[in-house]
Amino acid sequence: MSLPIAELVPPHIRAFEAYVPSRPDPELCRAYRVERLHRLNNNENPLGPPPAAQRVLAGFEPPRASVYPNGDSFFLRATLGERFGKDPERFLVGNGSCEVIASVVKAFCDKGDNIITADKTFAVYEWVAEFSGFEARLVPLKNAAFDPLAMLAAMDGRTKVLFVCNPNNPTGSWWRRDEMERFLRGVDGRAIVVLDEAYREYVDDDDFPDGMELMERHKNVVVFRTFSKMYALAGLRVGYVCGQKDVIDYIRRTHVVYSVNSLGQPAAVAALEDDAGHILATRAMVARARKTLLPAFEELGLPYISGAGNFVMVRTPASDSLIYRQLMRRGMMVRTMTGFRFPNWIRVTLVQEPVMREFLAAFREVVELVRPGGGA
Ligand SMILES: Cc1ncc(COP(=O)(O)O)c(C=O)c1O
Repeated sequence: MSLPIAELVPPHIRAFEAYVPSRPDPELCRAYRVERLHRLNNNENPLGPPPAAQRVLAGFEPPRASVYPNGDSFFLRATLGERFGKDPERFLVGNGSCEVIASVVKAFCDKGDNIITADKTFAVYEWVAEFSGFEARLVPLKNAAFDPLAMLAAMDGRTKVLFVCNPNNPTGSWWRRDEMERFLRGVDGRAIVVLDEAYREYVDDDDFPDGMELMERHKNVVVFRTFSKMYALAGLRVGYVCGQKDVIDYIRRTHVVYSVNSLGQPAAVAALEDDAGHILATRAMVARARKTLLPAFEELGLPYISGAGNFVMVRTPASDSLIYRQLMRRGMMVRTMTGFRFPNWIRVTLVQEPVMREFLAAFREVVELVRPGGGA
């Protein structure tokens, strides 16, 4: 007898399409017949983690792998507490900030509740809500930025969490202090406000609203940060949420303990303690890359969106999947943006100058190829 497996599955799971991650580099290199691949698709920092974190990684003794990690990232929370002048109990560390997104949704949403975010932002907020059976209300961006008034208008008595990606992935837009303040006053404590500051360390502007400060006045604010982007520890999966103690205590109830591994915890501690030079060097690399790419996009007559963060978006003169494949054949992997609801745009991670020049050469060739009168 065949098992009627679909009947066991709730409708919101049947209706959900799984995300398919990219294949590993050796597979892709074989498929596209290239010797090496530059990954410009995930907003990673190719400079690698700060030196102190690299030393921690090099010094890891393999037998330690047999022992479970500390279950609640004790030392990392202590370091975070010191850095931000807060009680370590106000931090909850996860297997990347993706894991804490799920913990927040589980802690606050019940059947019939909704979350609010933008239509063109980091998609995991929307996905977690939907595969958990909750409505995700997606508010259109306005001028490529989160629209605070429309988000407030979308709230109702069943809204539990508002996700604000500040700066936004993929547009790089961010709310200034006064805009954020007005929004938080509008929410007026009726729901949890998540400020996802995954790219916060890339912003060097006094008018950037620091969620770590805001949460002291607006008790419903929680902040997400990650070691995957600026700190270049994406492969070790460490991210965290910080908020008021009672808020974090509820989130902790839904959170898997032991989800942060023994290598990631001390590497993140060392990265935080040795970040000053690393942040400056990374910001300089990103600024230089932006200066190289943007005039070239202009010269090609292609619209682009460039804000904060280590990425830019550019509109492609053909389908983004065609451009992707052509770039892959030249050893350049970018992010197609149709899935982000930006049809026929790509997002490019900003990295070292020589790689940016290589990318531009490949991109120019591809644009030439697909434009009318080109070789395609
Ligand atoms: C806005 C935003 N938040 C969170 C994440 C996830 O980070 P983590 O690697 O900590 O799960 C990303 C990763 O791309 C991101 O762009």
